[in-house]
Amino acid sequence: MVSLKVNGTTHTVDVDDDTPLLWAIRDNLGLTGTKFGCGVAQCGACTVFIDGQALRSCVTPVSAVGTSEITTIEGLTGKEADAVQAAWTARDVPQCGYCQSGQVMSAIALLKENRKPTDRDIDLAMNGNICRCATYVRIRAAIHDAARALEI
Ligand code: FES
Ligand code: FES
Repeated sequence: MVSLKVNGTTHTVDVDDDTPLLWAIRDNLGLTGTKFGCGVAQCGACTVFIDGQALRSCVTPVSAVGTSEITTIEGLTGKEADAVQAAWTARDVPQCGYCQSGQVMSAIALLKENRKPTDRDIDLAMNGNICRCATYVRIRAAIHDAARALEI
């Protein structure tokens, strides 16, 4: 049994200590917005915030989380999240959508650290999030839109 604080609520979850956080989030808590892509920290589909930091939940055992606050795509709040979600919608970014919750989490993490990212900043920050539909051009444009919206 482990205790996990996810999106502001503490849950007791019946899993082994070495269970990846991703499985607990999806299978035990039913929060399926976070996706399984590669399972080896290479694609970014499983990105969540742990104490505000964007991390790969597929390679994070539940035992490593402790009392940290976990935020999934379902629990996003705040001006960066609002700006990114609005820009994603306006730009119609997703194609199949599978990678997109991870993309959104990484975009928010970038804008929290860098309010005026250049194309290069975006490419570097988003480099670990793979999109098989190649929505990269729209992702970049949406991040610029979100950054502009945050200036206002
Ligand atoms: S599923 Fe975690 S990085 Fe790919
Ligand atoms: S939108 Fe299909 S994998 Fe990214």
